[in-house]
Amino acid sequence: MPKNNNDYNCLVIGSGIAGLSFALRMAEYGRVAIVTKKKETESNTNYAQGGIASVVDSTDSFQKHIEDTLKAGAGLCDEEVVKMVVESGPSAIKSLIDLGVRFSYKSNRNKSLEKLDLGKEGGHSEKRVVHAADYTGREIENRLVRAVKDNGNITVLDNHIAIDLIYKDLNGKRRCFGAWIFDVRGIRVYKLLASITLIATGGIGQVYLHTTNPKIATGDGVAMAYRAGAKIANLEFMQFHPTALFHPEGEGFLISEAVRGEGGRLRLRTGKRFMKNYDPRMELATRDVVARAIDREIKLSGDPCVFLDLTHLKESFIRQRFPNIYGKLKNLGIDIAVDWIPVVPAAHYMCGGIDVDLEGRSSIENLYVVGEAAHTGMHGGNRLASNSLLEAVVFAEIAAGSARKELENHAGNNEMVSEFDRVMAGKIHVSEEEKILIAHLMLDVKQVMSNYVGVVRSNKRLNWARRRLEIIKNDISDLWQDFPLSYDLIELRNLAAVAELIVECAQIRKESRGLHYNIDYPDQDDKNWKKNTIIINN
Ligand code: FAD
Ligand code: SIN
Repeated sequence: MPKNNNDYNCLVIGSGIAGLSFALRMAEYGRVAIVTKKKETESNTNYAQGGIASVVDSTDSFQKHIEDTLKAGAGLCDEEVVKMVVESGPSAIKSLIDLGVRFSYKSNRNKSLEKLDLGKEGGHSEKRVVHAADYTGREIENRLVRAVKDNGNITVLDNHIAIDLIYKDLNGKRRCFGAWIFDVRGIRVYKLLASITLIATGGIGQVYLHTTNPKIATGDGVAMAYRAGAKIANLEFMQFHPTALFHPEGEGFLISEAVRGEGGRLRLRTGKRFMKNYDPRMELATRDVVARAIDREIKLSGDPCVFLDLTHLKESFIRQRFPNIYGKLKNLGIDIAVDWIPVVPAAHYMCGGIDVDLEGRSSIENLYVVGEAAHTGMHGGNRLASNSLLEAVVFAEIAAGSARKELENHAGNNEMVSEFDRVMAGKIHVSEEEKILIAHLMLDVKQVMSNYVGVVRSNKRLNWARRRLEIIKNDISDLWQDFPLSYDLIELRNLAAVAELIVECAQIRKESRGLHYNIDYPDQDDKNWKKNTIIINN
């Protein structure tokens, strides 16, 4: 816990690529606290494989990258944002290299930007994915964490989970003053006040049973922002990655799209390739197309998965290009140089989020949002592969520039913050056996979302999901009052909240577009629905 709650100019919630990049910039202007709910490296960022999309090859162009992004986004991208992010790509890559990130090069002799080794992924018309073998995220996360720890103006508070934002209406405008924080080890709540607050809490994948996301991805930032009255957008656009490993001991482990980029082929158990029935781009169609194709083939065949085959590639190439995937699967008894990989679609990336403007500002004053928790307009109805890390780096830089100006104007006010109205851990007694109820409810939420709000939706399924989530939400309200505050309870409350918001957004959109497919409205309806879905907690 900080010595003095007012010691910080800036509070950053989350230590993935977005939070860490923003913190490094803000540390040039003031003192920064990063709160992060587990170990500082635990984040979606840490598991990113494919890489960062950027135009660095002379045969490529910004225009092509922009067009690919807009096409994948199914008519809902904000073109101004796409242009800005794509054109900032090369300088974003350069800033990561300057930080010490070791990307893969075509040859070790020439390490200029043009000589970076480039991968290809679904929906990209060119090879443009800059990567560090197949552990790009880990390489970036480690370098950023090191830089943050070396910075005297930044304090990292790990095992600290933000519960709710602190806000007040002033002159008719809502303003954020920081957040209530639960210190998981100390089992206590305190307020962390700051002139600027950044939500960089990442994704929501844990709302589903099968996900590529680590346990931390429970949508806390979106839930907190919604409770505080911020504008939320487009949560119906949950991206399912087509190829997560199907294996009892490696459930959800990602098999990077770069594997298909290098020639990986999708097959049924019988060996038959099926992607030609769905899209002329075959395995390299956009994710929405490939995930729906696999979902359909699984339903038609009754098999639990399909297979990804790279046995026609040289073993030496596979081991050098995909050391992480090769090693992980080898440990599970699958030799990807000779065996097909069993794969299924799994929840992967939330394209919607807390709505922000071109500078990363939310609808609440002094509250910024960067990374997967944000809805910037970059991804529209379906994110183009490897555009997420890029968006996070670019927006972190821009948002920090904007937040710096706010710092000059804002005077913090500790007195206006009321006390936390929740009974603390240790003050209520609940028998150990009852605590399992939290885990049960967590599973209930995931089951409802997986059964009724998956790759293919219908009005009936969405209605059922809504009804079931309402009951679960009431049970959680009881626990929120009766149970000692704990890490698990905080996550459960958020997970159920975002589940409900996803369903609400999905029910509002009466068409199919990008990642949102409803069999009751199978067509895209540009006349009525070429617009964002916006929800606000009034
Ligand atoms: P994260 O990296 O998820 O960080 C969120 C942070 O917030 C974590 O530190 C977490 O602990 C913390 N946090 C959350 N809630 C709280 C709370 N209440 N209090 C305190 N701290 C909290 N994208 C690409 O562009 N290219 C890729 O190759 C790629 N591969 C991927 C592979 C996998 C397996 C996954 C899961 C995603 C991949 N993505 C990829 C997507 C990309 O990794 C993420 O969108 C991106 O890393 C999100 O960064 P972030 O900083 O917004 O969030
Ligand atoms: C992957 O490597 O397939 C993930 C890339 C992404 O999510 O952008």
